[in-house]
Amino acid sequence: MIYLDYNATAPLHPRVERGLKKAAARFANPSSVYHAGRQAKEAIESSRETLAAHLNADPAQITFTSSGTEANNQILQTIWTSALREGRNPHFIMSATEHACVRNTAAFLREMGVAVTEIGVDEWGLIHLDELAAALRPDTALVSVILANNETGTLQPLPQIVALAHAKNVPVHTDAVQAFGRLGLDFRASGVDFMTLSAHKIGALKGVGALLAKTPAQLNPLLHGGPQEKQKRAGTENTLGIMSLEMVLEAEVSPIDLAALTAYFEAQIHREIPDVIRNGHPTLCLPNTLNLSFLGTQGEAIVMNLDLAGIACSTGSACSTGSIDPSHVLQAMNVGPDRLTSAVRFSLGPQTTPAELDQVVAAIKPLVARLRMQ
Ligand SMILES: Cc1ncc(COP(=O)(O)O)c(C=O)c1O
Repeated sequence: MIYLDYNATAPLHPRVERGLKKAAARFANPSSVYHAGRQAKEAIESSRETLAAHLNADPAQITFTSSGTEANNQILQTIWTSALREGRNPHFIMSATEHACVRNTAAFLREMGVAVTEIGVDEWGLIHLDELAAALRPDTALVSVILANNETGTLQPLPQIVALAHAKNVPVHTDAVQAFGRLGLDFRASGVDFMTLSAHKIGALKGVGALLAKTPAQLNPLLHGGPQEKQKRAGTENTLGIMSLEMVLEAEVSPIDLAALTAYFEAQIHREIPDVIRNGHPTLCLPNTLNLSFLGTQGEAIVMNLDLAGIACSTGSACSTGSIDPSHVLQAMNVGPDRLTSAVRFSLGPQTTPAELDQVVAAIKPLVARLRMQ
């Protein structure tokens, strides 16, 4: 298989594949007081410290969760329940291009009486900063903006977003799931109050997310139970998954220049196939993501036919693929009906090779020509 869907998930990092057997010895419950339990606990704390060093954060600011989805839910629901305790229902602001786990949490909160303002984006997917400034109200309790879009790779101007929100004393959350491991992330310097990450996007095991909070004491648990994660996330920890994250973070950084590889792929496609338009910002973008509309075709048909040829890519986010709803991200960018339905997302990773990309171009060229004739 030629795998070009790294934004959905990454294959296990070779270091994790090698390290898992040894790590399996840390099976004891990290809450157990005997030696093996303490060793499991130490392994978790070691991973927390490595992650903190990687992100320029304090280890105490990191809470491990089961996923990026859970971390995003916990942050939004923390702000909501804290406001409810003070007898008010808060106002949230988010971009129109958030991942489903933020959008659908916001939809749930709306049902619960929370006011949510969605800020539009321009044709590149960049948030309208003037709209954001105008939307901030005295009761606004959170601004939540995805750092790197999972469908297009577009990067939001976080410093400006933080400056606008903080000027009105409004905390900022950024969903950095796609940026993690692909861009240098600095939690302290970013100024954000909350950040979320997911381990499986960088080749660790699935089932581990991380929530960073500037002031972790503010967090309210989503799951109630035992005292794990300083009472902020009950449930026996996923020791192996958390250890696998540290294995990836400590691995040598791949020498592959993903931006150059992605640019090569894009250039080859444009050279071979006419009427292809890139969706997303051409430079303020993740180095690995290429969202292309093959005008006059259906993106779904391209994805399915490429699958038959052993090539994995997608029409959008893994969570919305399978539904026939067109991408809310491209809709927010107002790309028009043909670009909307003919979009395909390719997301490259450290194991991608130029030869594989040549094969993909060779497979797409006749396929697009055939689909355009139908
Ligand atoms: C931007 C973004 N946020 C959140 C998530 C959810 O992360 P997880 O798969 O760990 O629940 C994803 C995964 O697709 C994502 O791309």
